[in-house]
Amino acid sequence: MSSNFHLIIGLESSCDETSAAILQDGKNILSSFVSSQVELHGKYGGIVPELACRKHVEVINPLIQESLEEAGISWNDIGGIAVTNGPGLVGALLIGVAAAKAISAVTGLPLLGVNHLEGHIYANFLEHDDIEFPFLCLVVSGGHSSLILVEGHGDYDILGETRDDAAGEAFDKVARALNLGYPGGPVIDKMASDGNPQAVKFPRAYLEEGSLDFSFSGIKTAVINFLRSKEASKVTVNDICASFQQAVVDVLVDKTLYAAQQYNVKAIALAGGVASNSLLRSVLENEAGRNGFRFMRPSPELCTDNASMIACAGYYLFREGHRSDLALDVFPSLPLIRREFLKEF
Ligand code: KG4
Ligand code: ZN
Repeated sequence: MSSNFHLIIGLESSCDETSAAILQDGKNILSSFVSSQVELHGKYGGIVPELACRKHVEVINPLIQESLEEAGISWNDIGGIAVTNGPGLVGALLIGVAAAKAISAVTGLPLLGVNHLEGHIYANFLEHDDIEFPFLCLVVSGGHSSLILVEGHGDYDILGETRDDAAGEAFDKVARALNLGYPGGPVIDKMASDGNPQAVKFPRAYLEEGSLDFSFSGIKTAVINFLRSKEASKVTVNDICASFQQAVVDVLVDKTLYAAQQYNVKAIALAGGVASNSLLRSVLENEAGRNGFRFMRPSPELCTDNASMIACAGYYLFREGHRSDLALDVFPSLPLIRREFLKEF
């Protein structure tokens, strides 16, 4: 066993992607494999948990083996195992955690359970240097839309979160209503590039004055109602996609800037699958810059689920002394809280 955390293996299986990655010094991805189940679930229009679990079981061991081979290393070179232990689908999480615990038991390697959202935040550390605390992170994925104040490694404060649908969930449900398939985000992003964002005036839910929470179920319903109206025949699907996307991005960007000003941070980061949305990336980057904030975002392929981000979180947290033991469990609703409070959870 390597005595430092120079090389970390990350494992991720919280939803419909199985992934294993080897990370060097918290930054260099020596190998990264992501086995997507999009085709498997596509025909059902959403994730079927039972199928997801079976697929994770099938691919996780070969992925781990391939990640070691591609990196050209053996277990003896590795310093620690980081694995997502929540939030996510319980059966799916169990596969990654069982694999990580088995490896830890056999090799004696240190083990660390990583929160999936924490992983998304740490994707920023893979590609940005000299990140200073505190910074604000907008985490937008299929299951979450949260504004998080990151005050240090493993030290988070949720400033706001969605009260109903997550941003990615709204993209997926609107795409389904438009018969565009699953997942909806990438296809709406693409269709929107040829549409008029002003074609349809969809509602923007800002909630009470000063609120940093989000709500996206209203806009989803507004799109579905619009599709049933006579007006729908006067615009193109591209226009509907562009108008919907603009409404979601407007709210995300306005609230993120407001939070950054309220909490006096110097930098704004973006994370999660929806962070690969081209409009959100460009508008937030422009607005952050115009208002004097440093802006950070991972490359699109590191925004969606991957094990490199989990290994990256592991690298920093192992170095801070955080560890799990073989009693590590999975938590489908694991909250993102300051790590020192996790012991009480
Ligand atoms: O982070 P992620 O890969 O998985 C979860 O943790 O949920 O995020 C998946 C979500 C899906 O809802 C997908 O539609 C959305 O991210 N997404 C996008 C884009 N790419 C993925 N949403 C908007 N625009 C995109 N380009
Ligand atoms: Zn995710």
